[in-house]
Amino acid sequence: MSSEELHAPREQLTASTYATHQAIVSLMEELQAVDWYGQRADDCADAELKAVLVHNKNDEMEHAAMLIEWLRRNVPEFATQLTKFLGVNGSIA
Ligand SMILES: [Fe+2]
Repeated sequence: MSSEELHAPREQLTASTYATHQAIVSLMEELQAVDWYGQRADDCADAELKAVLVHNKNDEMEHAAMLIEWLRRNVPEFATQLTKFLGVNGSIA
């Protein structure tokens, strides 16, 4: 799999860094799809098509969540930060 998003020569990257890159690029694509489906659903006049678009938007959120979970399991600092912020009450800041 090639990527135009690399900022260092591929041969200089560890397998872990490259896999993390693949997960991050994929997460970006899934989040972009959530945004696009959401906008398209808002703009859709056909009720049934709107429901399909909302369904698809929610599927993209599932895909994004799966990638976040992969990052949590494979990148220790992600695990630290996700534990710190996810599911906690009170101010995020
Ligand atoms: Fe997806």
